[in-house]
Amino acid sequence: MGNIRDVYAVILAGGAGTRINSPTPKQFLLLGDAPVFVHGARKLLADARVKQLWIGANGDWYDLARQQIEEFIPSARVNLCEGGADREATLLNTLNAICEHNDIGPDDVVLIHDAVRPFVTERIIGDVIREMERCDACNTVVPVNDTVVQSADGKTISGMPARSELFAGQSPQGFRLVTLMEAFRNLSPEERQRLTETTKVCFMKNIAIHIVRGEFFNFKITTPYDWHVAQSILEFTKGGQPI
Ligand code: CTP
Repeated sequence: MGNIRDVYAVILAGGAGTRINSPTPKQFLLLGDAPVFVHGARKLLADARVKQLWIGANGDWYDLARQQIEEFIPSARVNLCEGGADREATLLNTLNAICEHNDIGPDDVVLIHDAVRPFVTERIIGDVIREMERCDACNTVVPVNDTVVQSADGKTISGMPARSELFAGQSPQGFRLVTLMEAFRNLSPEERQRLTETTKVCFMKNIAIHIVRGEFFNFKITTPYDWHVAQSILEFTKGGQPI
């Protein structure tokens, strides 16, 4: 740990967006003046410490992603690569591409951001980079406001965890690139199967994961309701920051 040499950023844009019911995946829909993924990309590129931004997009939508990159964020720092069958497969493809094109060392850090969180802020990105000076992995989180209950059978409550200890995970997530790649390599096929979240890779391998304060408006556009909320935020703020 200690000093950071290079910071790489990844935008995961390989999803199909089935829950939002749109023929074009939500990350490529126009939100205000730009496609959804471009909002987060601009915030990441605004941080001069980000050396390269890698965007992972899937087959049918690869050409659209390339066109939108050329139109909205033309920059030598922006690269496109193939996505994968799920979020973690897209991530692995982008990480492999970063490693192929760069000479990676222990002081290099990667920030991973969901294409469908357009309202991330420069403050959050800066805090994640700063925290990475002190750790191998960190996640952006917000406290949960509702009481969270657990139900093993979907019918009755089987657990009531203390709300004060519960947080909801967001992105960006930060990792020492070498540590993350090694943790991925050491996963058993059964562990890989159980993987639904990148920070879980580190959790499974007993790597401490620090937390950084996110924002409630840094939500993931998942459903048609979220899409309306995102539009309303833009109207309310006239395209500015949601606070
Ligand atoms: N993602 C990805 N590659 C995949 C699947 C998901 O890069 N094969 C990305 C999505 O594009 C999104 C993020 O992972 O930025 C979070 O995923 P989610 O909101 O679940 O997106 P989708 O998988 O597109 O949505 P759905 O589950 O409704 O199909």
